[in-house]
Amino acid sequence: MAIVTTTEMFKKAYEGGYAIGAFNVNNMEIIQGITEAAKEENAPLILQVSKGARKYAKHNYLIKLVEAAILETDLPIALHLDHGADFEICKSCIDGGFSSVMIDGSHLPFEENIALTKKVVEYAHAHGCVVEGELGQLAGVEDDVNVENHSYTDPAQVEEFVEKTNVDSLAIAIGTSHGAYKFKPGQKPMLRFDILDEVSKRLPGFPIVLHGASSVIPEFVEKVNKYGGAMPDAIGIPEDMLRQAAKSSVCKINIDSDLRLAMTAAVREHLANNPSDFDPRQYLTPARDAIRDMVKRKIVNVLGCNGKA
Ligand code: G3H
Ligand code: 13P
Ligand code: ZN
Repeated sequence: MAIVTTTEMFKKAYEGGYAIGAFNVNNMEIIQGITEAAKEENAPLILQVSKGARKYAKHNYLIKLVEAAILETDLPIALHLDHGADFEICKSCIDGGFSSVMIDGSHLPFEENIALTKKVVEYAHAHGCVVEGELGQLAGVEDDVNVENHSYTDPAQVEEFVEKTNVDSLAIAIGTSHGAYKFKPGQKPMLRFDILDEVSKRLPGFPIVLHGASSVIPEFVEKVNKYGGAMPDAIGIPEDMLRQAAKSSVCKINIDSDLRLAMTAAVREHLANNPSDFDPRQYLTPARDAIRDMVKRKIVNVLGCNGKA
C-alpha cells in the first residue's frame, strides 16, 4: 500500500462517530511505537511532521521511515505537514510525497487567510494532495510561535472560508492549546462545545480538526518529576471531553505532547534505574514501548478508531 490521503478516512470517521489520531513524528522509534500500536488495534493513522521535525530528521528520512512503516503494517497511513507556515513549505511537502498538508493562516486577517489557503489548495489538489486550513487561534507554543490567549473560531466565518478556499478539513479553536500547560492550576478544564456544535451545523458532513489535544495524564508527569524532571502544573484536556468531540464532526485529533511525555518518563525511569547504561537501544526500547502503549490508549479511550483500518 502507498501513503494515502485522509479523504476516505475522514468520510468513514464522520459517518462512524470516531476520529483519526494525528501523531507528530520526529524519529524512527516514535514512528515504530505509533505504528505498532495502530497495527495491534487495526486503526487508520495520520503521521504528521512539523517544520521542526523536518529540520531535525530531514524530509527524505521521514518519507522512507513512513514508507517502511506501511510495508511493516499494511495499514492506511496518511503523511501530513503540521502547521505549514507558507506556500513554499506546503509545495515542498506536496512535491516530496506528503499526502496532506496544513496551511496555517490562522494568524492572518480573514481575507488573507482565504487567499493563502486557496492558493495551497489549488496546487495540492492538482497534485493529489489534501489540505487542512485553520480559523481561530489556539493558545500555547508551537514551533517558534507563542500565543498567549485563545482566539476562538467564529462560526459565522466557516461557510465562507470553506466555500472560497475549497479546503478539505478545518481546524478550529474551542479551548484546546499546544503543549503541556493548557490550564492554570485550579482552573477547570473547559472546551467550547457550543462553538463546535454551531460549526458542525453550518458545515454538515465536513471534517473538523482539533489541535492541542493532549491530555497530559498526571501519572506520566509524576513519573517525569519522580526521576529528576521539573514539570509542575502541567494540565491537559480530559480524555472524556476529547471522546465526546471524536463522536461529533471532529475527524482528526492532534496529539504530540502526550507522546513526548510518555517517552521522556520512560527514558528517565530507565536511566535512573540503570545508571551505568550507555547503550541507546536499552533506553530507547522502553521509550518506544511507552509510545506504543500511549497510542493504544488514545486509539481506544479517545479516538474510537480501533478496528476501523
Ligand atoms: O503543534 C505543534 C507540535 O506539537 C509540533 O511541535 O514544532 O516542536 O515539532 P514542534
Ligand atoms: P499537543 O501539544 O496538545 O499534543 O498538540 C499537538 C498538536 O496540535 C500538533 O499540531
Ligand atoms: Zn497544532
